[in-house]
Amino acid sequence: MITISNLKNFVGQEVTIQGWMFNKRGSGKIYFLQLRDGSGITQGIVEASSVSPETLAQAEKLTMESSLKVTGLVTKHPKLADTYELQIKEIAPIQLVTAEYPIAKKEHGIEFLMDNRHLWLRSSRQWAIQRIRNTIINATYEYLNRENFIKIDSPILTPNACEGTTELFEMEYFDMGKAYLTQSGQLYLEAAIFSFGRCFDFGPVFRAEKSKTRRHLTEFWMMDAEAAFVDLASNMQIEEKLVRHIVKSVFEKNLPELKILERALEPLQKVDAPFIHITHAEAVKELHAMGSDIKDDDDLGGDDETLLTKKYDRPLFVEKYPARVKAFYMKRDPSNNDLALCADLLAPEGYGEIIGGSQREDDYDTLLKRIHEHKLPLEHFQWYLDLRKFGSVPHSGFGAGLERLVTWICGLEHVRESIPFPRTIYRLAP
Ligand code: 4AD
Ligand code: MG
Repeated sequence: MITISNLKNFVGQEVTIQGWMFNKRGSGKIYFLQLRDGSGITQGIVEASSVSPETLAQAEKLTMESSLKVTGLVTKHPKLADTYELQIKEIAPIQLVTAEYPIAKKEHGIEFLMDNRHLWLRSSRQWAIQRIRNTIINATYEYLNRENFIKIDSPILTPNACEGTTELFEMEYFDMGKAYLTQSGQLYLEAAIFSFGRCFDFGPVFRAEKSKTRRHLTEFWMMDAEAAFVDLASNMQIEEKLVRHIVKSVFEKNLPELKILERALEPLQKVDAPFIHITHAEAVKELHAMGSDIKDDDDLGGDDETLLTKKYDRPLFVEKYPARVKAFYMKRDPSNNDLALCADLLAPEGYGEIIGGSQREDDYDTLLKRIHEHKLPLEHFQWYLDLRKFGSVPHSGFGAGLERLVTWICGLEHVRESIPFPRTIYRLAP
């Protein structure tokens, strides 16, 4: 099929493409049509001297976002490298738009654009972001499959919480009481590693978080990975290799998209060097020196992460948070029972947490104690405890937030542009 993305293979030939006209310049003697077909964008030139009066009239009539078929000769752009144009011979409108397209060239506010998300997705900026998102998804599958992780689909409807009970979307589930939308498939992957060794899932997860930050969605996509016989250090190695593979893939496939987004490339190139490791205690010390009033056993807040990651030019592992701010399933540090064997991976340039991971508690009695401490309903964790009763092994895993990765790699201000149809506490539509 001939698409805009492969016009370079048809220089000197006449081709027909189908798509949409998203902009038009010129009048009378010459028109420059900006065309897109999903695969890319190109300029179509309609010159009065080389087309029929009918074609010229068609060009004159074309309105923004009209769908059309155009036939023309493919030429190389006289000045720009890797750029191809169409010397148009014929135009066949598919639908000539008569209404005024709501998204004009002028600046619109973000709420207006989000209300028109179904149309805004057509802009070259949103096109570039979603294509990079697609590369990140594929690169994740590619890397994990290569490393012998198999995909296990964890359930979305669950009877219990994975990440604390305060941020759950709940519903009545027939006459079985309450059900909750999953916050992470991790606990189910833990069951699966006892059959498959290494597993991952990749799907939507839900958090009824009342946060209005630029980092939080109520529905987002998470990739959880879990592996038997892996400790915290090896877990971080897997994460680092995954992130490096993802960034490398985006470089290979999406340079034009990064250019559309005006993404600075240098910070992304540094992802190819070894990541930085500091402990939570060291992070707190550095934050104090930068003026933060974080307490020694506090979690890092969004602002702390911003401060810290502006200081580093590479992704940063913050290890061993105080156990009291982390989830019940994390194993404690044998050399300090107050600390969890966990690490968050923070993206540089102020982006902050993109991955959360840890070694899991593998001892039956200790885990039982934690379930009680966290006041979790024991009946729904009996199966999870069973995993510590029948062939328990040291194991670790992590969860990567897809939208956080997209936001960082694309260099976006806010996570809401990283997902096609964002869900936040104040947005459920379109
Ligand atoms: O750190 P979190 O809460 O970890 C877990 O859920 C673990 N069970 C994962 C695991 O070990 N398998 O979430 C993982 C990642 C975060 O690092 C962040 O990137 C993303 O999910 N995330 C969010 N992304 C967008 N909006 C939110 N509200 C998010 N909350 C977490
Ligand atoms: Mg986290």
